[in-house]
Amino acid sequence: MSILTTATRMWLTRSFRPFLFQNEYDNRLDFADCDSLGLYVHIPFCMHICAFCPYCKQVYDKQVCNSYIDDLIREIHLVGGQHPGKKQVTSLYFGGGTPALAADRLAEIISALREHFIITEGIGVELHPENVTVPLLRTLAHAGVTKISIGIQSFQKKFQTILGRTGLDEACMANALRTVPFETVSMDFIFALPGQRFKDLKADVDAAFALGANHVALYPFIDFSYTDSSIPVMEKAEKRKLLDQITEYCEQLGCVRTSIWTFARTQQAAYSSMTRDNFLGFGCSATTLLREQFKINTFSVEQYHNRIEQGKLPTSLTLRFTKRQRMVYYLFWTAYSTRIHPADFEQFFGVSLRRMYGFELWLAERLGFAKKQNGVYTMTRKGAFYYHHYENYYTLAYIDKMWGILRQEAFPRYIRL
Ligand SMILES: C[S@@+](CC[C@H](N)C(=O)[O-])C[C@H]1O[C@@H](n2cnc3c(N)ncnc32)[C@H](O)[C@@H]1O
Ligand code: SF4
Repeated sequence: MSILTTATRMWLTRSFRPFLFQNEYDNRLDFADCDSLGLYVHIPFCMHICAFCPYCKQVYDKQVCNSYIDDLIREIHLVGGQHPGKKQVTSLYFGGGTPALAADRLAEIISALREHFIITEGIGVELHPENVTVPLLRTLAHAGVTKISIGIQSFQKKFQTILGRTGLDEACMANALRTVPFETVSMDFIFALPGQRFKDLKADVDAAFALGANHVALYPFIDFSYTDSSIPVMEKAEKRKLLDQITEYCEQLGCVRTSIWTFARTQQAAYSSMTRDNFLGFGCSATTLLREQFKINTFSVEQYHNRIEQGKLPTSLTLRFTKRQRMVYYLFWTAYSTRIHPADFEQFFGVSLRRMYGFELWLAERLGFAKKQNGVYTMTRKGAFYYHHYENYYTLAYIDKMWGILRQEAFPRYIRL
């Protein structure tokens, strides 16, 4: 693990204690009193597997997928039924894999969730471009979906070839998006691919908005150690230039920067399953973040089934936070939105942000990473780049290691990060 991430962790948590994920779990989850709770559902099936993709997924099989959805519904009732009444939640996101492969059962999953939760901010689904057809979008809209995010990656043939993705039917997509409207239509792109220039990214952003998107996500390419990808990684200075140029361009278009890598035509069009104070995750590899713990479900579809069959939660690992660890976790994900509200921090932890991290905030301002505007710490463009750069380290030092192990072992004894 990189010395940088370890040193930062020790500094910010004021402790040598690592993040220790152990093979143990609570069968009862303490979410009843959590404010700002989000829901996430993982569908781990795809028609084709992309070599660069780090997520938990396997090749689609109708029977396996159907039996998985049965298990998923049982997990929802196992968790949701733990507290009487209906808990108010923010949003619900379906991710994968390719959740649209279970489109005919999304209504059933949503209705199981609605037995326990009241969803107040809409329902989002990740789509593969092949899913963007009129009948499929209609199925989603009827199920109550209000936001979609489409994994375009690039509209250009040369980058599609590098990524091993096939061509897109833009006319079919445009027609489907015109015929079945959604509150948010987001498109995902991967940037920092070999030979990619600002004009290429700009053309992608222009094409996205022309096709009907009102939100774009531009993710930097990350080379996970356990994937089969052979795509070379772009050098840091070149990546920074690209990120700065495309940020400036999106801002010129009048977009709001809703997070480090996402831009929305309007604030209402935000699409993010990541920036919630607490969330409950259902399905293989789904994570749950509560006030005092973080847990991650098993990556194995087979072992997921076995646990559910026994009436037990499919948790693989649990991290029990120290207070400072929870604060760091909170700040890391809140900073992803490019803004930190001291009042929200104080409400969450019952102590002022200034008291806990006054020196770090002062330093961030001095170094030009953040500015305090109307009581809110807002990341500057420089700060956003360094966050992005650190996030890359974090992903390789923490997520790559953890997911790499969890893909091999359904229930590892422990993982120390
Ligand atoms: C689960 S996928 C999206 C839905 C759908 N399965 C698809 O591929 O179109 C989520 C997004 O993660 C991003 N992604 C996947 N692998 C990545 C990598 N190695 N580096 C950066 N972004 C990646 C892609 O932009 C992708 O659209
Ligand atoms: S990028 Fe999307 S389609 Fe490709 S393997 Fe990952 S989840 Fe599946």
